[in-house]
Amino acid sequence: MSKRILVVTGGGDCPGLNAVIRGIVKSAKLDGNWEIIGSMESYNGLLKDKIEIMPLTEKEVAGIHVKGGTIIKTTNRGGPFNFPVQQSDGSWQTENRTKLLLERLDDLGIEAIISIGGDGSQRISLELAKLGVNIVGVPKTIDNDLSCTDFTFGFQTAVEIATEAVDKLVTTAESHNRVFILEVMGRDAGWIALYTALGGGADVCIIPEIPYDPKIIAQKIATRYKDGEGFCNIVIAEGARDIAGQITGTAPTAVGDEHIKLGGAGDKLKQELQQLGVEHDIRVTVLGHLQRGGIPIAFDRILATALGVKAFELVKAKKYGAMVVYNHPEITHVSLEKVVEKSNFINPKNNSFLCAAKKIGISFGD
Ligand code: F6P
Repeated sequence: MSKRILVVTGGGDCPGLNAVIRGIVKSAKLDGNWEIIGSMESYNGLLKDKIEIMPLTEKEVAGIHVKGGTIIKTTNRGGPFNFPVQQSDGSWQTENRTKLLLERLDDLGIEAIISIGGDGSQRISLELAKLGVNIVGVPKTIDNDLSCTDFTFGFQTAVEIATEAVDKLVTTAESHNRVFILEVMGRDAGWIALYTALGGGADVCIIPEIPYDPKIIAQKIATRYKDGEGFCNIVIAEGARDIAGQITGTAPTAVGDEHIKLGGAGDKLKQELQQLGVEHDIRVTVLGHLQRGGIPIAFDRILATALGVKAFELVKAKKYGAMVVYNHPEITHVSLEKVVEKSNFINPKNNSFLCAAKKIGISFGD
C-alpha cells in the first residue's frame, strides 16, 4: 500500500510555492510508493465541514514551477487552532479544531504533513508536532524573515520586481526633478527594501529595524538638489517605524486574522517631509501585491524545488518536527523549535549589506 503525504501552503502566497509542490511530487513519484494530497487553503481544506483536498500527481504538477501563486490555494485566516466559524446570530468566532484535524488525518491515512509557510505556519507546525503529528516545514515568505535559512524562496523574486520598479522611477524622477517614494513589502524585516535600495541605487532606504527621523531624510534630499535641479529616490518598507515606534496601517477586519493590514508608510513620509518644508514634487508609488504574484525568477524556482525534494527526503527518513533550510551550498534541516526561537531581522550594527549601503551614502533616516 502506498504511503500518503499531505501538503499544505499557508499564509500569503509567494513565488515558488508551486515549484516546491512539484519538487515533492516528482521526487516522491521517482522514489516509488507514495501518494501526495494537497489540502485546499492550507489546513482549512481538512477543517471545513466538507473536506476539500486535491490529489497531486505528476499530471497536476507538470510545468507549474513557472507559475505564481499556489495550485492548492492558501489563506492567512484560520488554521487548526483558530478556525473561523459563523455563529447562528451571523457573527464570527474562532474555535480550536485540532481534534477534528487529527481525526481526519487518521481517516485519510496520512503518514506525514509537509507544511510550506512562513513564521506563523511554522509555529502551527511546531504545535502540531507536539501533538504527535509527523510534520516537516518548508520556509516561505517574500519578507525573508524566517531564521536558520540563508534565504526563503520568493524573496529574490520580490527584490527583482521592486528593483525594476526603482529603475523605472529613477528615469521619471530625473526627468521631472521629483522625489519618489517607493513603498515595498516587509512587515517586520526590511530585507526587500534594503536589497531593492542597493539593487536600484536608491538614495534613502527606510526599514522596520531602524526607526527613521524625517528631518534626516529631508537633509539627504537637500543634498540631491542644486538650484532646483535633481531628484531623489526613497525606498520604504511598509513596516517602517517612526522615532516613536509607530507603524502605519489599519486594524484587521476578518476574524482569525490577527495582523494589522500595513500600508500608507510612503504617504505618511511624504506628509512629514512636506511639513518640514520640502518643496520638491513628492510622489508615492505603492508596489503592493505585485511583489508577490507572477512568475518566480530562476533562483527561487531552483531553491523551491530543492527545498521540496529535501522535505520529501525528511519524510522518507522519518525526520519529523524539522524545517528544511538553505545554508549555502547545502540544503539541510533544523528543528522547528530552533526556527521559531527568533526571526531573521537585519542587524543594523553589523549586517554587511546594510553597512555597504551606508558606505555608498544611502541614508536610513538615522
Ligand atoms: O508576509 C508577507 C507579506 O507579503 C507582508 O510583507 C505583508 O505585510 C503581508 O504579507 C500582506 O498580507 P496580505 O496579502 O494578507 O495583506
